[in-house]
Order: sequence, then C-alpha cells, then structure tokens
Amino acid sequence: MPKIIELSTERLCLRQWRASDTEAFAQMSSDPRVMEYLLGPIDTAASLVMQERLTQPIAKRGWGLWALELKETQQFIGFTGLHIPLPELPCSPCVEIGWRLAFEHWGKGYASEAARAALDFGFNTLQLDEIVSFTALPNLRSQAVMQKLGMQRDADTFMHPKVPEGHFLQEHCLYRLNKLHQ
Ligand SMILES: CC(C)(COP(=O)(O)OP(=O)(O)OC[C@H]1O[C@@H](n2cnc3c(N)ncnc32)[C@H](O)[C@@H]1OP(=O)(O)O)[C@@H](O)C(=O)NCCC(=O)NCCS
Repeated sequence: MPKIIELSTERLCLRQWRASDTEAFAQMSSDPRVMEYLLGPIDTAASLVMQERLTQPIAKRGWGLWALELKETQQFIGFTGLHIPLPELPCSPCVEIGWRLAFEHWGKGYASEAARAALDFGFNTLQLDEIVSFTALPNLRSQAVMQKLGMQRDADTFMHPKVPEGHFLQEHCLYRLNKLHQ
C-alpha cells in the first residue's frame, strides 16, 4: 500500500476522502450552480459512486483529487488535485489538475490556493514535466483559475468523448503548465 499523501496550505488541508464528507459532497453534486458545466446535477447515489471513484486512486497511488478541508472549521468544501484522465483524450497520457467547490466557497481563492499545492507536489515530488487542465469552453471561472496558475492555452480545442454529440459543453479547451514555467 502506498503512503497516502496529504497536503497543507495556509487555509486548507488536501486529504483523503472520509465517509463524513458524503452528505456535503452530495449537496454540492446536486447544486445546479456547481454542476452547470459538468452536465448538470447528480443525485445522492451517483455522488456516492463519484466519491468512491475519487477515493480509490488516492488509496491506490497515494495522490489524486483530494477532499478539501477548511483548517479553521474542519469543514469539507470540495476537491482539488491531480488525476489521470481518459486515455482517449488528445492530451493523454497526461496528468490533469482539477477543482470543484461548494458554491458558498467560491470567490475566496481556495481553488487556486489548493491547486498551487497540488502543482508543487506534481512537479517536485512526482517529478512530472507537464500538468494539463481542460474544461468546456463556456466554463470561464475554471479557465480563470488555470490562467491565474500561469497555465497556457493550446490553440486547438477538442470534443470531449464523454459529452453527447452536439451538446453545448462538448468543445473543450486545454491548458498546459510546464515544470520549467511554473
Ligand atoms: C471553478 C471554481 C473551482 C473556481 O472557484 P473560485 O473560487 O472562482 O476560484 P479561486 O479559488 O481561484 O478564487 C478566485 C476568486 O477568489 C477571490 N479571492 C478572494 N479572496 C482571495 C484570496 N485570499 N486569495 C485569492 N483569491 C481570492 C478572487 O478575487 C477571485 O474572485 P473573482 O473570480 O470574483 O474575481 C468554482 O467556480 C467551481 O467549483 N465551479 C464549479 C465546478 C467546476 O466547474 N469545476 C471545474 C471543472 S473543469
């Protein structure tokens, strides 16, 4: 079993998921504002399946899309971290950085604070040469985080293979950050 990596920032812990996160995660998964660019809200059962899918890679490799906990209140507020995406994506094989926060925690800099810790881990501990991020074209808030982190957008977009043909979220942009440019 690998050592489970947990990261710490000024205001946040990036940690393995817990059973006690389930309710708060289901709540954010059912929020149309959070899920606007992620094909819409999902129910409690689907949220639990997703929580399990996020927990497993951390258990297996030691790192992944960590649960975010506010140090001050020990509250679960969402997730941020590193992920190996689908092999059929044009950037694969690659390591992706991703984030999702409960709506009431937007606009406080938590996603970018957690992302900086995840990038530092990816480049300096995992010794990755490049970390990518991608999102649907209309998801400007997520792209703002990518830009803040110094990521550079590829000229080409791509159609996400899991989004239905013709859907307004199908076209995605890809951002990259190179180890030397972080
Ligand atoms: C994408 C998402 C994580 C971005 O969250 P966010 O809170 O906007 O991002 P950050 O953590 O970088 O915070 C930046 C904001 O915090 C503000 N802020 C407040 N205090 C701050 C601080 N101490 N440090 C930095 N920024 C701070 C910034 O001014 C900025 O606000 P603005 O966007 O109104 O200008 C969030 O919108 C989300 O969860 N969306 C739904 C899920 C999703 O789409 N995920 C991505 C899928 S690809």
